[in-house]
Order: sequence, then C-alpha cells, then structure tokens
Amino acid sequence: MTSVATLQAEFAARRPSSRRFVMCRPDHFEVSYSINPWMNPDEPVDRARAIDQWETLRATYQEHGHKVDVVPGIPGLPDMVFAANAGLIVGDRAMSARFTHPERAAEGPVYHRWFARHGLAGLVGATELNEGEGDFLLVGDRLLAGMGFRSSRAAHEEVSRHFELPVVSLELVDPRFYHLDTVLLPLDATTVAYYPPAFSADGRAVLAELYPDAIVATDADAAVLGLNGVCDGANVFLSSRATDLSEALRARGYNPVGIDLSELLKAGGSVKCCTLEIHGARTSRRAP
Ligand code: ARG
Repeated sequence: MTSVATLQAEFAARRPSSRRFVMCRPDHFEVSYSINPWMNPDEPVDRARAIDQWETLRATYQEHGHKVDVVPGIPGLPDMVFAANAGLIVGDRAMSARFTHPERAAEGPVYHRWFARHGLAGLVGATELNEGEGDFLLVGDRLLAGMGFRSSRAAHEEVSRHFELPVVSLELVDPRFYHLDTVLLPLDATTVAYYPPAFSADGRAVLAELYPDAIVATDADAAVLGLNGVCDGANVFLSSRATDLSEALRARGYNPVGIDLSELLKAGGSVKCCTLEIHGARTSRRAP
C-alpha cells in the first residue's frame, strides 16, 4: 500500500511542462455516418454547442501555458475535429495517418499537407492503416500501439521503423473502445491509467507487467470516455463526467481539469481525440 509520505512526495514531484497541440475547430462537425457504436446519425447534434465546448478546451489549454495550432476544418469531413487521428509527431519524425474507413480517408492527405506546410521534419505518409495518436501513444521512450479495430499490426511495424522507437502492440477487444486512446491515458514516462477489460488477455498481461503502478479505471469512467484525456505532467484534462478517475488522479498528486465535450461524445470522441500533440525530441533513440 502507498504511504501518505509517498503520496506527498508524488504530489511535490508533479511538474507541468508546456506542450504543443494541433486542433481542428468543429466548424463542420456532424454525425452523418456511423463508424463506431457511439455514432447515431438519427440523433441530432448541436454544432454551435460543440464549437463552444471545443473553444473551452482550447482556451483551457492556453490558460495552462500550452500552445495550440488550429487546422481549418473542411466541409464534408465532419470527424476532422478529432485531430489526434491525423498522425504521429515525435521529435524530428512525423507520419500522417491512413484511415481505415472511406468516410475519413480524405483527412489523411489534408492533414499531411498541413504538416508539410508547417515544416514538420521527417514527414512521411503511412502506407499501412494507421489512425495516428488514436492508436499510438508515447509513454516515455516507447510507443504503445492499439490494434483490432483501426490501426493494423503492419502499421505498428512501420511506425517502429520510421520513428526508431520500440512499439508495444496491444489488442483491443470491445468495439466501444476502438482506439487505444479511448482506454489508456499516459500520465508520465512510467505510469498510465487504463481500463483492462478493453484489452485482450495478452494485452492486459503486458500492461500489468509494464505499469504495476497504473491507475485502473472503473466501468463508469470508461463509459464516458474518461480515459480519453491529456496529461501535461501535472494537470490532466479529461471529461468532467469521469468522476472516479478524477478522484484517483487527485489522490496520486495530479490536478484533474474537467471539460464537458458532450456533443463530441456523440461521435465517439472526447478530450484526447481533439488533441494531436507535437512531441519534442526523445532523449534516447533505439540503437541502430
Ligand atoms: N468518429 C470518429 C471515428 O470513429 C471518432 C474518432 C475519435 N478519435 C480518437 N482519437 N479516439 O473515427
């Protein structure tokens, strides 16, 4: 059991660091097709409200010292708001996504051009099915990678080669949690929060071994996509509905910052889905 002294030491050690994020305003957001169980085209969405909620997220990031670049949305690409899926950027390497569903396929080249115009180094387009930070999450000097619904195992290999980083493949088994970022939240180089039932038995075993101190999320947290959050080292931006997780984070010395993205949840996304991080250079590349 963790002692009070350990918890106090953890709290004192939390330091936020300034991040660079890429986001896309939901100016063309709607639910006009269904490619995950959250999406019901018959249920109305309030776009003005989605924009307000998104603006609150952007302003909250900026108030916490993070830099946000905004990619213009495009009519007919309603899911472009979920910028996390656009690619993966780590240090001097970047890769734009190749989407699984035809409904989102055009987003790959749109984001690729934006990355190129913004001078991202070492940029390539994925040749394998790859939904960017939806399925590839950097934890320390290692990438955790989801598969089963969207990104493919071949994509994991392609990413590992391009970024010269070790990739740990994790199989997702619950269609509600079709991207890794819906059930796993990186907290620091050695800790994550996650929802074990979303993973295959092998995946659960790997995660238990890699992260013995992980926060294990409840069914209630998972059901509101509470794990779809962003940590800056001290603050954790996440759904305001994820109350168990917020409490668990606070007990570990993090500062949960609740955000209401209820309109975007109707498309199966929350805080992290709206946020692509431009990660700085890693300290240790895998030896050649
Ligand atoms: N409607 C989008 C899709 O199904 C939601 C994407 C959510 N993004 C994420 N990073 N999990 O593709």
